[in-house]
Amino acid sequence: MPKKISLTRYLVEQQRMEGHIPPELRLLLEVVARACKRISQAVSKGALGDVMGSAESENVQGEMQKKLDIIANEVLIEANEWGGHLAAMASEEMEGIYVVPNRYPQGEYLLMFDPLDGSSNIDVNVSIGTIFSVLVKPEGAGVSEQDFLQAGSKQVAAGYCVYGPQTTLVLTVGDGVTVFTLDREQGSSILTEEDLRVPDDTKEFAINMSNQRHWAAPVTRYINECMQGRDGPRGKDFNMRWVGSMVADVHRILTRGGIFMYPWDKREPEKAGKLRLLYEANPMSWLIEQAGGSATDGKQRIMDITPAKLHERVSVFMGSKNEVERVTRYHSEA
Ligand code: AHG
Ligand code: MN
Ligand code: MN
Repeated sequence: MPKKISLTRYLVEQQRMEGHIPPELRLLLEVVARACKRISQAVSKGALGDVMGSAESENVQGEMQKKLDIIANEVLIEANEWGGHLAAMASEEMEGIYVVPNRYPQGEYLLMFDPLDGSSNIDVNVSIGTIFSVLVKPEGAGVSEQDFLQAGSKQVAAGYCVYGPQTTLVLTVGDGVTVFTLDREQGSSILTEEDLRVPDDTKEFAINMSNQRHWAAPVTRYINECMQGRDGPRGKDFNMRWVGSMVADVHRILTRGGIFMYPWDKREPEKAGKLRLLYEANPMSWLIEQAGGSATDGKQRIMDITPAKLHERVSVFMGSKNEVERVTRYHSEA
């Protein structure tokens, strides 16, 4: 029988390999995975736990918070603040950064997360998740918001956990994409797939079609061509999927290909898009790129953008390389 490789063993082996992950980063990733396991437990309790519905509060982005947004945020902070591996954390649910309290040792890493992605799906029992990204704190005393404003290309680890029919942790430390599935009986995450690849071509797109009338011309052109199917310029029929949780949509694309789009639109023209650069677009872009796909904001590679603020938003096109290149080209031709 093939040996089961746990996440712990995988990370220890990565640590042993020359030039791979340092011990503090290994610890950090184990702690994040443990926190995700706790979130997964809370999610699965549903109406039997006090986890459904609204928290009757708003976050810094002006979005209503769900109870689970707050629970997941607290679980991630509590799990990560005392280990000595982090200097500070930033989250979709917190306006400013969370500096590790000085009763604990300070580490050299910065952790960013979307504690609960797909909040609108919590109460309807559809897949949701946690997205995270890890940076190294720049040299110097103390830690500030400025330290977080690094391009995605500087990430040292990124991943997400999807709470769906299975709880699946998907991780990159810059050496391909690895998938772990939570074994609930054993309580540990087991490696179930290595070196995930996104096919270069696809016949499946993901976009919220209800925003169609608000899109910019290049997006309209791209989707119109897909919709014309085999009779149109693309010469093939396309399928559409939209879960409404980026984790679930990107997980599908990492598994079987596709293109995920959340473009800028005219509803709120002053915002670059809906999704956040630091803890949604960057980690997902790195995973997609590590799997051979690509990710742009329509003009440039997402991971090359230097953020100007913590909760910066960005237009997102990611997935199968040839489709992302096509819609990006439509932007430059417009
Ligand atoms: P969050 O729940 O963290 O606020 O993120 C929701 C995001 C993303 O997961 C998803 O792709 C998108 O919002 C869905 O947006 P629509 O409601 O426009 O479908
Ligand atoms: Mn999100
Ligand atoms: Mn969220």
